[in-house]
Amino acid sequence: MSLSEEDVRALETEITSAIDGAGDLNALEQVRIDALGKKGRVTSLMKNLGGMTPDEKKIFGPLLNQIKNRISGSIDARKSSLEGAALNARLVDERIDVTLPAYSEPEGRIHPVSQVMDEISEIFADLGFSVAEGPDIEDDFHNFTALNIPPEHPARQMHDTFYLPEDENGDRKVLRTHTSPVQIRTMQNSQPPLRIIAPGRTYRSDSDATHTPMFHQVEGLVIDEDTHMGHLKGTLEAFVTAFFEVDNIKMRFRPSYFPFTEPSAEVDIGCSFKGGELRIGEGDDWLEILGCGMVNPKVLDHCGLDSKKYQGFAFGCGIDRLAMLKYGMTDLRPFFDADLRWMRHYGFLPLDIPTIAGGLSR
Ligand code: DAH
Repeated sequence: MSLSEEDVRALETEITSAIDGAGDLNALEQVRIDALGKKGRVTSLMKNLGGMTPDEKKIFGPLLNQIKNRISGSIDARKSSLEGAALNARLVDERIDVTLPAYSEPEGRIHPVSQVMDEISEIFADLGFSVAEGPDIEDDFHNFTALNIPPEHPARQMHDTFYLPEDENGDRKVLRTHTSPVQIRTMQNSQPPLRIIAPGRTYRSDSDATHTPMFHQVEGLVIDEDTHMGHLKGTLEAFVTAFFEVDNIKMRFRPSYFPFTEPSAEVDIGCSFKGGELRIGEGDDWLEILGCGMVNPKVLDHCGLDSKKYQGFAFGCGIDRLAMLKYGMTDLRPFFDADLRWMRHYGFLPLDIPTIAGGLSR
């Protein structure tokens, strides 16, 4: 037989480089079968040992065994390195970051006015109030006369009213100057007991850092057979503490005048401006936040309700001002500039819906 040591070593070199060159586990298995399988090249050489001379056996026996062991070791090593690489590739490929939110954060924001309207509705819903609406373009009767503000009443001048052009009857509609006309519409269209709030847009010809020609108010109205000023105070106290999310809020009711309520009051809440920072609740200063009173019997009469049988209370409050106080804006005008940078800063996430249980604002 013409087998030489060089041949055997050349074979080992060839197989070793085939092992190194195997790109995946299948290719490596093929190399193993070709070398060490039943009909593999190394196996065949070992089978031939039986036909060799004793001298040849002495040389090739140990040599082939060593080669077989080295090849098998190389195959094992290559196998685990290929398995490691395959696992790494899968890990990279199938990587899921379970800490990512299920939904990406929405781009849009809820305007602070909408947020505050939702907060107010939530608080009053909890007290048994429903939400009423009325038109932005009102007639003179609902905006003024029925509210005990007859023509020539000085209160009309204070309203800086926007008038629409005269119609064919010589009547001029107005952009409602307050949400109080919704009281009138509610009393005309439904029977007591009544418990409503009416948030919405209002208009006055006025513009500076805290006034815009369009602004927002919320009106409240309760009518029943034995409603009194104590109910008014209790309701407003519950509202103010819930809205400002402060446990103790000092409140005072200051005598005032509105044509549609008798008696009338304005409500101030305690605050402090120490260190240039406004703190709501405690302190030596007062902030006026709303007007209120017992509904004037003349208003009930205008709505066709029996003022001997029914009475109630009403209140009206600027929503934009509440938003400014609660969320710390000093200028009202940017509220309505539709500037996205302002919205991103002051807006609220759409899925954070205010609830009594979950918190009004976070
Ligand atoms: N309508 C008043 C205004 O715009 C606010 C107001 C005051 C409404 C007292 C009321 C109330 O219902 O009772 O200034």
